[in-house]
Amino acid sequence: MSEFKIALIKGDGIGPEIVNGAVTVLDAVAKKYNHVFNYTDVYMGGCAIDKYGVPLPDETVEICKASDSVLLGAVGGPKWDNCKERPEKGLLGIRKALGLYSNLRPSILKPQLKEASPLKDEKLKNGLNVMVVRELTGGIYFGERHTAEDGSWASDEEKYSVEEVERIGRIAFETAMLRDKRVVSVDKANVLDSSKLWRKTMTELSKEYPEVELTHMYVDNAAMQLAINPAQFDVIVTSNIFGDILSDLSSAIAGSIGMLPSASLGDTKCGMYEPIHGSAPDIAGQDKANPIATIVSAAMMLEMSFGLSEESKAINDAVDKVLDMGYRTPDIYSEGTKLVGCKEMAALIAENI
Ligand code: IPM
Ligand code: MG
Repeated sequence: MSEFKIALIKGDGIGPEIVNGAVTVLDAVAKKYNHVFNYTDVYMGGCAIDKYGVPLPDETVEICKASDSVLLGAVGGPKWDNCKERPEKGLLGIRKALGLYSNLRPSILKPQLKEASPLKDEKLKNGLNVMVVRELTGGIYFGERHTAEDGSWASDEEKYSVEEVERIGRIAFETAMLRDKRVVSVDKANVLDSSKLWRKTMTELSKEYPEVELTHMYVDNAAMQLAINPAQFDVIVTSNIFGDILSDLSSAIAGSIGMLPSASLGDTKCGMYEPIHGSAPDIAGQDKANPIATIVSAAMMLEMSFGLSEESKAINDAVDKVLDMGYRTPDIYSEGTKLVGCKEMAALIAENI
């Protein structure tokens, strides 16, 4: 028996529903494999603004740091659009506070979801299995910001150090070593100095990984290549903002942003696991959300932070089984499949553990 402390940040919008769904599945895993998962609910985002007046209370950071990992739903919503500090600031703050500089976002086209992909069959015939490795604590998200007093201009700074590029580069090369050994580094080195540094650093670093093939691609071309030939990619490594954008695109190609998990890691085993989608306030509280991205994020947590590979596989297998049985939430529904809500989807996956 093993015991783990998990901090739960349910957040806003559909966040509570999807995290509850993941907890249903984790409880089934705990029961079957005789583990104990101790959950602590903490506040971050809009709900923290409502309760404490700030998007990231100190207590949340402390509890997350004292946990074995963090499972996060989603934060944000129109209700807090005009707050001095937006909910998203809490998300960036917790990533920084926990030192989570590396964000892994896998996109895999499941055969069951081909119908849900916006791409034609012909573009999908070779499948899609890409890992987007996004730098998460640097770049324009954390650079200096200015807005002129009279509101006539505003600026954001994109800044990367060699050290920051090297450490995310290493994660990409190590990840590729366990996959097809191909890394595409995405930048805009035909225009930006920060990208020139990125490219040069990645090229230097690649000498330490002779088995891995490194190529470079401009971000505009990378977006186009994802749409016209998604199968060509193995690992994509890129900056914070480019990774944000390209991972939404790769998730859509895989069928729905509601399917895609992510792992945010630093130099310790304590990671933060979250779906890559947002809080979807338009469907919040209606039991329409797809909990699968959060459930498979929990599977990533079991494997990457807790070393529970078998348990992690059991979750992924249960998801496949439930999809094979034809169950679908609205975002992945197509004719001839069985429409279910968030709660039922999670319960079905839990039953199949
Ligand atoms: C994501 C989200 C966040 C980000 C937002 C909510 C700040 O889009 O995790 O991809 O841009 O990092
Ligand atoms: Mg995003």
